[in-house]
Amino acid sequence: MTLYRARIVDTPCDPFAGGALRAEEDGGIVVDDTGVITARGAFADVRADHPDEVVIELPGGMLLPGLVDTHVHYPQVRVIGGLGMPLLDWLDQCALPEEARLADVAYAKGVARDFVTGLVDAGTTTALVFGSHFATAVDSMFAAADVAGLRVTTGLVVSDRSLRPELLSTPDRAYDEARGLAERWHGRGRLRYAVTPRFSFSASDAMLESCAATFKEVQGSWFTSHVNENLFEVAEVRRLFGGTNYVHTYANHGLVDRNSVLAHNVHPVDEELALLASQGASVSHCPTSNSALGSGLFPLQRHLDHGVRVALGSDVGAGTGFSLLKEGLQAYFMQQLLGADGVALTSAHLLWLATSAGADALGLADEVGDLSVGKQFDAVWVLPQAGNPLDVGLGNASSTLDALAKVFALGTTTDIEGVWVGGDQIAAGRFRRPATR
Ligand code: GUN
Ligand code: ZN
Repeated sequence: MTLYRARIVDTPCDPFAGGALRAEEDGGIVVDDTGVITARGAFADVRADHPDEVVIELPGGMLLPGLVDTHVHYPQVRVIGGLGMPLLDWLDQCALPEEARLADVAYAKGVARDFVTGLVDAGTTTALVFGSHFATAVDSMFAAADVAGLRVTTGLVVSDRSLRPELLSTPDRAYDEARGLAERWHGRGRLRYAVTPRFSFSASDAMLESCAATFKEVQGSWFTSHVNENLFEVAEVRRLFGGTNYVHTYANHGLVDRNSVLAHNVHPVDEELALLASQGASVSHCPTSNSALGSGLFPLQRHLDHGVRVALGSDVGAGTGFSLLKEGLQAYFMQQLLGADGVALTSAHLLWLATSAGADALGLADEVGDLSVGKQFDAVWVLPQAGNPLDVGLGNASSTLDALAKVFALGTTTDIEGVWVGGDQIAAGRFRRPATR
């Protein structure tokens, strides 16, 4: 058992439903040898109950739950920052030429290493990862995530039209390769399989039916894809599917349920929101991607009005980095720009979206998302360098809510001092070791 001492901040109760930020200014958390939190409270009280445990001091900054990224593309880590294009041009000119390179196994292994480093350094401990069109590259992703100790749900990306030929497959081949990957990796350690058609724009009904077979047959698998991202794309999907709504192109194959996460949904009609809500499906809001590609301003209020689950995604590489702090800040900006149609977000909402909401979207809310007793110790220690603007801001914050706002406004990956998953400090060599006594 280990006793951590820190300023602990988390969101066990949904701020969109009136929940408040929870904070322990001088807190203690006891973690057992399986990585589960067994006690939590004021440090003095927890220490009194656990006088013999080793104490790991995490002085300064704040300890947050591990961040949860519900939409991030592994093959795109090396093309982040391709600016100036709308979605389909960006795919053709920037993303897909790079994705084709992952046919080479050695290349894919290098990309998987870069990708995992990006997640860990950003404090992301759980992710729903958009995989590769090549099964060998998906093997590399699972293996890299396993070695790093991350909680990763991912799978083979499948398409049978509209993309460059080397990225296309067939429904039968897609099914066989997906089942093989799921057999090798689903349920192993912290890994799970995600059925992943790229988007309806590049997947025929026959391909979506093949996805449905995998989704049904692999117990506990997840479904993820893109939806309603760009107005031209939305119109094309409607034309390709004879007037069907975008969400319904998936739902018609049984692909929209509690285990489904659809990225973007910037341009939904009410019927689609009602369907997502009734099925318990989640939407991954990807604010820097929506800004970089000019996709539009996410209608968060309409999602909330319909009762649709919403969490955050970085959408690397259309999104401009791995940091969910940056995504949270960009989400805030975009709601401000919506004026009366926007949602007034506080830092508590941003933390909820970046942690608990993500865990809920991925069906992991019983295990991670906040730092309550009974949950896994997945945590991020945000600690700025002495004298940097975040350090100054934290020193002058008027409240915990204000301090957390400064973390979102000013925090970068260089302020991530330590990352734990299931009680294991992952990639410990990259961080200064916390003091023990
Ligand atoms: N739609 C289909 N593929 C992609 C992708 O790689 N990124 C984004 N942002 N949207 C997509
Ligand atoms: Zn995406």
